[in-house]
Amino acid sequence: MGLDEQKKNAAVHAVSLIRTGMTVGLGTGTTAAFALHAIRERMEREGLVILGVCTSSGTQDLANRLSIPTAPLSTATNIEIYIDGADQIDHDGNIIKGGGGALLREKLVAVNSARRVIMTDASKRVDKLGGRVFLPIEVVRFGHDTTISRIASGVRCTPHLRRKGGVAFVTDEGNHIVDCEFPDGIASPPSLAQTLDAITGVVETGLFIGLCDLLIVGSDTSVHLTEFPRKEVIL
Ligand code: A5P
Repeated sequence: MGLDEQKKNAAVHAVSLIRTGMTVGLGTGTTAAFALHAIRERMEREGLVILGVCTSSGTQDLANRLSIPTAPLSTATNIEIYIDGADQIDHDGNIIKGGGGALLREKLVAVNSARRVIMTDASKRVDKLGGRVFLPIEVVRFGHDTTISRIASGVRCTPHLRRKGGVAFVTDEGNHIVDCEFPDGIASPPSLAQTLDAITGVVETGLFIGLCDLLIVGSDTSVHLTEFPRKEVIL
């Protein structure tokens, strides 16, 4: 079995934690898409009723296609659970997100949720964040070249302005994404996040610190759960 099967196993387990009546933060990406399909299946099979809060226009489109009821973040006052994928996660539960460019809305939904559940395949667990996965940083478009230079000199990384179809990628919030390369990995994700947050022109970083309460890693046949603070269980 491959990574998709592992993502699907993780997503199905995450969706099994949802109860009727809950407001659910719906993440973005391929793993989150598996979760939306699993929600739809439970709606059909057992009459599950939820209210979703979408983290991107892509997830909103999928929720609409699957007839999953949704509400905007501003009117969803009590998000019981947020389920989303990740690009990398370390042993302290620090995460890199934003491979799909939705990091800003994802973080907004995550910080407004009571329980944050991250679903991944086994390849996403790492000893150290960075390395072969770039860190996405959302920057305002105005003067973005100057912001990118200040990021590069401030935190010593190699920045790449994300492009799509030959032009600079624009997020759902109208900003650009800079993918930052840290070839030797990120020594201290919390302090890097603080430093980047203080750079003028940076809107948000893909470093999610303290935003994972439960990690579900799918394997070919089961799932591996880690609660943060750490408590490991094999199912
Ligand atoms: C979207 O911006 C990202 O944060 C995704 O959640 C992350 O890239 C994981 O994506 P996959 O589930 O497709 O691996």
